[in-house]
Amino acid sequence: MTEAWRPDDEDERRGAAGPVRVRVPAKVNLHLGVGPLRRDGYHELNTVYHAISIYDELTARRGDTLALTMEGEGTGELALDDTNLIIRAAHALAGYAGVLPHARLHLRKQIPLAGGLAGGSADAAAALVACDALWGTGLSRDELAGIAADLGSDVPFLIYGGTALGTGRGEAVSPVLVRPTTWHWVVAIADGGLSTPAAYRELDRLRDSGAAGAPLGSTDALLGALRQRDPRVLARTLGNDLQDAALAMRPTLADTLKAGEAAGALTGIVSGSGPTCVFLAADAASAERIAAELTTAGVCRQARVAHGPVAGARIS
Ligand code: C5P
Repeated sequence: MTEAWRPDDEDERRGAAGPVRVRVPAKVNLHLGVGPLRRDGYHELNTVYHAISIYDELTARRGDTLALTMEGEGTGELALDDTNLIIRAAHALAGYAGVLPHARLHLRKQIPLAGGLAGGSADAAAALVACDALWGTGLSRDELAGIAADLGSDVPFLIYGGTALGTGRGEAVSPVLVRPTTWHWVVAIADGGLSTPAAYRELDRLRDSGAAGAPLGSTDALLGALRQRDPRVLARTLGNDLQDAALAMRPTLADTLKAGEAAGALTGIVSGSGPTCVFLAADAASAERIAAELTTAGVCRQARVAHGPVAGARIS
């Protein structure tokens, strides 16, 4: 007797049998130029994304429903229901590929919540890569990035990683092609988060009142500095239009920025919408010293060294 063909078995064979583990990095914006508010509620951006070596890890296993558990940063604060970007990403991929959104997902989180490091977006990117492998849907990175764009402006970048230009509302990503150089960073994680929409609203308010600094404009100086591969040159070109807004919402960040520079950083900026501050160091040893000083100075919850660029969401 021949066995009847069962699509379920076929699906089992196509996907991964064992758990799929995906590592995804945090991002900083080396240049975050914010243009005018668009009709859709987003701002036009001109940004240079950079992926750094602080990672979340998402493990996907076969299951009969879609379920998410977590440990680490934000446990007990982050909703694990249908509003979570990981769950939304799994549904979006399943809908696109025409499969059932069944998986048991576990997040090990190191990227702080609402920190300006795109932690939620990173997790969504990880979910797309993990579920694609678990379900055997076999999409290309470009296809995953297309789905990612609907989940959030930073999500496509975190599918690719590296250093990349972002335009539109940030979702249109193209790689920056430069000879590989490793940059050394110190990441000062603050207590509590800042809301990204609130930071953009604050920037609009500061601009209306004439209190915000001049807009950053072109990324040319920064891209030229990346090519020169000298951290002192790069330090002069880092910039973030959302920094004034983050400082207005959290004035103590000025102390964090001052402390990092006093500890030997070449420069410091607020990361994205904050409140995380990132400092460029001359080398790895200097980064370690700055992180130690920031920790003892008590100007942040935690100071960590990191390097970049690193790859985006990848099976590990
Ligand atoms: O795209 P994402 O969901 O991450 O954006 C979160 C919020 O940040 C948006 O709802 C919007 O208020 C603000 N934002 C913006 N302009 C962008 C990106 C985000 O105003 N380019």
